[in-house]
Amino acid sequence: MIAQKMEQALNKQINAELYSGYLYLAMSAHFESTNLPGFANWMRVQAQEELEHALKMYAYVNEREGRVILDAIEAPPSEWDSPLAAFQAAYEHEQKVTGLINDLVSLAVDEKDHATQIFLQWFVTEQIEEEASASAVVEKLKLVGDAPQGLFMMDRELGARTPGA
Ligand code: FEO
Repeated sequence: MIAQKMEQALNKQINAELYSGYLYLAMSAHFESTNLPGFANWMRVQAQEELEHALKMYAYVNEREGRVILDAIEAPPSEWDSPLAAFQAAYEHEQKVTGLINDLVSLAVDEKDHATQIFLQWFVTEQIEEEASASAVVEKLKLVGDAPQGLFMMDRELGARTPGA
């Protein structure tokens, strides 16, 4: 059975993952409203991934005979000044999530909870990818600047993202 302290921390992370999903869905809605369907698609796929992250933790807490308690999800912003501003916010958000995952690992070490340490390794690896994929779009957007043609091409590229990619 999982220790209460660890259980509470994982419950908090379930909320953080659901918030991430909410944030990216808000970004997707923003891009839908600014006629960038490819950007919207990328964010919608990202939102789905976040829900999967939350469900992975949900399943783990239950498996360890813990109790999942769902808290209120904070409302995300609804507007961003530009595609670059939105992706920069996404990148910064992922850096924050990496910090949260690292704190969970530290807690699992302190609690001598080896099972949770192993479970969290998937998230540690996943965060490398999460940061890298948001950062890659930020860098491309910096190159494109305000050129409409470049944005149009990027929209096509981001529109090709499918779940699991
Ligand atoms: Fe669930 Fe984007 O980290």
